[in-house]
Amino acid sequence: MKLELFCIFAVLFAVRAEEQRWAQFKLDNSITFSNATEEAVRYNIFEENLKKIEEHNKLYDEGKVSWTQSVTEFTHLSADEFSALLTYKIRKTDTVRMNLLEGFNLSVPETFDWKDQGKVTKVKNQKSCGSCWAFAIIAATESHYLIKTNQTIMLSEQNLVDCCPRKYSCFGCDGGSLIGAWLYMMETGVALESDYPYTGNQGTCQNKTKLFKIKKYVLLPKNEVSMKENVANVGPLAVSLNADLLQNYNSGILDDSTCPTNKNNHAVLVVGYGNKKSTDYWHVKNSWGSNWGESGYFKIKRGSNTCGIQQEAQYPVLY
Ligand SMILES: *[C@@H]1O[C@H](CO)[C@@H](O)[C@H](O)[C@H]1NC(C)=O
Ligand SMILES: *[C@@H]1O[C@H](CO)[C@@H](O)[C@H](O)[C@H]1NC(C)=O
Ligand SMILES: *[C@@H]1O[C@H](CO)[C@@H](O)[C@H](O)[C@H]1NC(C)=O
Ligand SMILES: *[C@@H]1O[C@H](CO)[C@@H](O)[C@H](O)[C@H]1NC(C)=O
Repeated sequence: MKLELFCIFAVLFAVRAEEQRWAQFKLDNSITFSNATEEAVRYNIFEENLKKIEEHNKLYDEGKVSWTQSVTEFTHLSADEFSALLTYKIRKTDTVRMNLLEGFNLSVPETFDWKDQGKVTKVKNQKSCGSCWAFAIIAATESHYLIKTNQTIMLSEQNLVDCCPRKYSCFGCDGGSLIGAWLYMMETGVALESDYPYTGNQGTCQNKTKLFKIKKYVLLPKNEVSMKENVANVGPLAVSLNADLLQNYNSGILDDSTCPTNKNNHAVLVVGYGNKKSTDYWHVKNSWGSNWGESGYFKIKRGSNTCGIQQEAQYPVLY
């Protein structure tokens, strides 16, 4: 009898804990639902994800995985729904690859991080617009400008979202390509963020007068040794990868050999690299706000093309 009571109490308590997490989740992310049916569907997915997160973190506690998960603003979405939000597009043309450092006798340290050097601008939030490509390009340009001039410049992602044309494989909030965005920044340039602030929706292209142009871009060969050399000696790299596993990422080094290497659907900025407990990693700036992951950043395994990270590493050359 006593045991039964205890069990009932435990079940009630567990349900309440999940409901409380749900209430907190809705509050934290300002999510509301039009009706109870819709909310029930979302709550079920959230509960399923919560179970998976707990199972994953148990593996972490047992030392079987190298990263932890948590509830994020995406936890009410199914894996397929989350994947559908990731709209990065690879541009197949104009892909001359080169490593300008080849042939130099380089010193490449074992660890290096532009964030520690104060050369990375603040984490931004692309919100529910498939504009990761614009955020990766602008983050790279802002960092390279800071490295070159020791001055902070904040540039407009919205300008790229509204104005980068289809001929460059740019589709506003429906995705875009890194190379296409560089081409637009070479040809036309982008406004300052303060002159053309982010709205998170695709709008009519506005013509601004004060525009920041780049000279060219460099696309690296597909290998992580080139990436390491260039991060340490040139600056952060805009890269693409498959980000399906980032839905509930919390901390640690993302390492999963099942992550596809040829289905890149997100773009981000590699700002540094290091080694922890004999695992080499990249340190990466994301554009999902500073509440996500490690204050807006994540780490991912380095050296085995995890999630296709070596496919398209590139950086801008400034005037
Ligand atoms: C509940 O909301 C969903 C999504 O907005 C909608 O598709 C559905 O028709 C609504 N159902 C009712 C009963 O109002
Ligand atoms: C390259 O650098 C290393 C270490 O700085 C030095 O020992 C070596 O002699 C250099 N090689 C050449 C060809 O300059
Ligand atoms: C670069 O800027 C920072 C912050 O404004 C300043 O503290 C630092 O002294 C500057 N460094 C150089 C080399 O001018
Ligand atoms: C912006 O400039 C382009 C090219 O000069 C022109 O075609 C377009 O009409 C202009 N748009 C607006 C809103 O003024």
